[in-house]
Amino acid sequence: RAQVVVFPGGEQHMSVETLMRLWQACLDDGLERGSTRAALGGGVVSDFTGFAAATYMRGCSWVAFPTTLLAMVDSSVGGKTGVDLAAGKNLVGAFHQPRMVWIDPEFLTTLSPDQFRQGMAEVIKTAVIGDEALWDFLEGHTDAVRRCEPEALAHMISACCRFKAAVVEADEKESGRRRILNFGHTFGHAIEKVSNYEIPHG
Ligand code: GLY
Repeated sequence: RAQVVVFPGGEQHMSVETLMRLWQACLDDGLERGSTRAALGGGVVSDFTGFAAATYMRGCSWVAFPTTLLAMVDSSVGGKTGVDLAAGKNLVGAFHQPRMVWIDPEFLTTLSPDQFRQGMAEVIKTAVIGDEALWDFLEGHTDAVRRCEPEALAHMISACCRFKAAVVEADEKESGRRRILNFGHTFGHAIEKVSNYEIPHG
């Protein structure tokens, strides 16, 4: 039996009120600790779903089906979940790993060019912070990536996930090494916040 809860994407909807709706829907549907939450959408959806899974009944499992490039290469991998407060991003959250992340690059053909570019900022970040082979691949396959050729996307996304997974395995709770993944994010989050989320993450 599956129950579906739909909520709008976008950082401006990442509020405690939306989270309350999600918890309430879990209750209304009689979900128990043994049931699994599935996040189908972008980063906001996986942050919320993962956090609702971390907190509802003190912890349930969840799986992620990221549909944006940003979620595929960053937010759905590594178990950071949470919700924004008015004072800033990600101020409440939990480390709660998904049991599975299923990535289908086919979803990327549904993105607007802006959304795709946002995700590419994370891909380039990954190359810059520690994957020289990915940097070379991007330089050599720029047109293939722009055209969303499936093989190029699959290679690029797997490289990012492998890199991120290795960093998270070494330092899940961000006491040292994992901070490298925040490269550029401090500025990015500040710009998002002062623009009232009109200028997005990427
Ligand atoms: N987005 C940075 C991290 O997952 O640690």
